[in-house]
Amino acid sequence: MWLVTGGAGYIGAHVVRALLADGQRVVVADDLSDGLVARVPDGVQLNIVSVLETEALAQVMTDLGVEGVVHLAAKKAAGDSVDQPIYYHQQNTGGVLSLLTAMEMAGVAKLVYSSSAAVYGEPVDDRPLTEDSRTSPTNPYGSSKLIGEMMIRDCAPALGLSWAALRYFNVAGCGADELSDTSANNLIPMLLRAHVAGRPGQIFGTDYPTPDGTCIRDYIHVVDLAEAHVAACRLVSGDLSAAPDPALRPPSAPGQAAGQAPGQAPADSARVGAILNIGTGRGSSVREVIDSVSRALGAPLAVEESPRRPGDPSMVQADPTRAAEVLGWRSHYDLDDMTSSAVSGLTWLSATGRI
Ligand SMILES: NC(=O)c1ccc[n+]([C@@H]2O[C@H](COP(=O)([O-])OP(=O)(O)OC[C@H]3O[C@@H](n4cnc5c(N)ncnc54)[C@H](O)[C@@H]3O)[C@@H](O)[C@H]2O)c1
Repeated sequence: MWLVTGGAGYIGAHVVRALLADGQRVVVADDLSDGLVARVPDGVQLNIVSVLETEALAQVMTDLGVEGVVHLAAKKAAGDSVDQPIYYHQQNTGGVLSLLTAMEMAGVAKLVYSSSAAVYGEPVDDRPLTEDSRTSPTNPYGSSKLIGEMMIRDCAPALGLSWAALRYFNVAGCGADELSDTSANNLIPMLLRAHVAGRPGQIFGTDYPTPDGTCIRDYIHVVDLAEAHVAACRLVSGDLSAAPDPALRPPSAPGQAAGQAPGQAPADSARVGAILNIGTGRGSSVREVIDSVSRALGAPLAVEESPRRPGDPSMVQADPTRAAEVLGWRSHYDLDDMTSSAVSGLTWLSATGRI
């Protein structure tokens, strides 16, 4: 049985469905601060609990026979985290500490953790980021994700944990209209919200050292991302025999160097600890995203050019090699798949008053 914290959220709802499709049993823990009950599929138990409620969380794990946790529950707006650093550390950093405590109490020793490319902060150059690239978060959100990774790594030997931290790049799209992202923290939802409101979308900076002058990011379809979680659950369970992509070779044994957290050899060969970039390895510029959204809408998107925003790096792109080697996973969807599914979800967002 897998416990998915934050399973009523945008990504969590996709992860729950992917695990179910893989034949896993799943329960959800979510405090519904940002989640929707309707995103939890019929037959999946929703426990309305905060991850900060350590004892209640441990009780859920014990009562329901939970063997592993996918920990997505967190606050995710980097900008807000600058204004509310204590709240972000309480919820995100405190959330991981509470979760680890509950897992120890309940004897649960498998963990897949939602980390973020925000741990890298501003890249030192334009090369794709590997898991060994410098981590230097530029906001409390990114710090909270990095501290979460560190706490998991530090606690793993004593708790006998097998774990994987997935550093997501820019997540986009949806697997069904009613699973659309209801927040507007990323470029595609921001462009679509502006379009619906009859406002031009904003391009922040057209003088970056990129081919078309706009920033480049690595967008990953949320359905591909959910599949990476299924593979990560297999990794921490020591069962990669059915890797999602048969063309990719899974490791012969868990815990090998390719998936190892830097500098952290597991105490025994049965335990695994891995930090993995989850991106496509392909960057798209803001103008390319605008063109793709326009194709999905069937009409050119109105945009206006504004000055650069402070702290926006020109290029953030994943090197996803390690995830392919360790998980036997790679992305399948492209930018047009992401924008067309996001545009399709607009009808549901409007009909339910969420846009
Ligand atoms: N969306 C992205 O682009 C992105 C990128 C990188 C990393 N992430 C990470 O992925 C995870 C999921 O993000 P999302 O986009 O689905 O966000 P979301 O806000 O849609 O989902 C988060 C879920 O966690 C729940 N939650 C929040 N705090 C909680 C708490 N203290 N106890 C219990 N439940 C709580 C919310 O109710 C919500 O259902 C987060 O950890 C986020 O930091 C997201």
